[in-house]
Amino acid sequence: MISELQSTELLASVWTHLSHFQAIRGEGVHLYDAEGNHCMDFTSGIGVVNTGHCHPKVVKAIQQQAEALLFGQMNCVIPSTTIRLAEELNTITPQHINRFFFSNSGAEATESAVKLAKAATGRSNVIVFQGSFHGRTHLTMAMTTSKTVYRHKYQPLPSGIFVAPFPYSYYYGWDEDTTVDFCIKQLDLLLHGQTAPDETAAIIIEPILGEGGYVAAPSRFLHHLRKVCDAHNILLIIDEVQSGFGRTGRFFCFEHSAVRPDIIVMAKGLGSGLPISAIASTEALMAKWPPGTHGGTYGGGSAIASAAALATVQTIKEERLLENSAFRGNQLQDGLKKLQQKFPVMGDVRGIGLMLAVEFTKPDGTPDAKMTAAVTSACVAKGLLLLSCGSYKNVIRWIPPLVVTEEQINTALEVFGEVILSLNPNHSSEHYLKLRD
Ligand SMILES: Cc1ncc(COP(=O)(O)O)c(C=O)c1O
Repeated sequence: MISELQSTELLASVWTHLSHFQAIRGEGVHLYDAEGNHCMDFTSGIGVVNTGHCHPKVVKAIQQQAEALLFGQMNCVIPSTTIRLAEELNTITPQHINRFFFSNSGAEATESAVKLAKAATGRSNVIVFQGSFHGRTHLTMAMTTSKTVYRHKYQPLPSGIFVAPFPYSYYYGWDEDTTVDFCIKQLDLLLHGQTAPDETAAIIIEPILGEGGYVAAPSRFLHHLRKVCDAHNILLIIDEVQSGFGRTGRFFCFEHSAVRPDIIVMAKGLGSGLPISAIASTEALMAKWPPGTHGGTYGGGSAIASAAALATVQTIKEERLLENSAFRGNQLQDGLKKLQQKFPVMGDVRGIGLMLAVEFTKPDGTPDAKMTAAVTSACVAKGLLLLSCGSYKNVIRWIPPLVVTEEQINTALEVFGEVILSLNPNHSSEHYLKLRD
């Protein structure tokens, strides 16, 4: 798929790369290079381009905004686009969530949420969950437990972060109820043994673990967190950075369980590729955040990023992308489950909407990172971009843009099935072909 490549020697080597595809253009689910080669981006740039690459409505909004105002620094003036974006976000958040603060990245927004929680409660500590990913700044590194690579050689990290187990049934090998009961008990133990409730400002959770392996938190567990928070005046922060903006078939994943967040963290899908993030909270909590104690040069000031975000939310509504996410998600999940019947190496197929994953396991049930790496690189070679995740690097996530079509999903499933078949020669292609029908 790749021919003449530009030299990349001037780029820092700290970046890892799923592929060396040198993209110059994007449209919908496709990326193109200078030679006209294309690939199917089923990573959405790690959950960013939910509206697809270069959605015409988002591009037009950016172009129009660029001609009017690029930047209005929030401490100096108030760009009208920022006000309009807050109004638009107010239409998709629960009624009690009606104040918005803007920044540039997911990590920055997570830091903002923690600072708001500390300011509003006067408490120092935060509870996160095993497998969490909240970013790569020093505080958010301390809040991230999905892989040691994110902290390796950077420790010690900021203190005051406590880790509770996430209800990851497949990992524990228990049914959902047993797993949730265990996690509830362990959280209680943490609040008795390590961080007292009156020192705990917030509990922060991804409603679907992202980098940690695409595991949805059961509704009963989320409601239990709400109960614990209410009992001790702890704030419940929901990190929707990866699961937000239609990814799971609703604007926000927490809507599936109807749990009530105190603070919502948003980024990625909000800007369709422009760097913008936000936290949303209640009037009462935001009123406890002393003016001037938080902010930044660019947050809320980039009129282009705000215009892109405004157009993104409007496009998701106008083009019924929530419905498409749910519908295509079912198609994809069904297709993956069908393949799972044939290939036992696909130990688990899970997720909600278009936030799906396949966990690869060896016959003894242990993680199969080697197979996962082989499958992703063979898919990339065939022009299908799929990313892995999970602490053991044995999960492949499926997060195509929400504009993905039935045909594109069928094509991707076909490539995936062929790749797994080629890596599992014990399975006859006859059987596989039968399953495709
Ligand atoms: C759930 C979650 N929170 C926070 C972040 C950090 O976002 P960013 O990389 O924009 O700083 C990520 C990034 O992958 C994420 O998935």
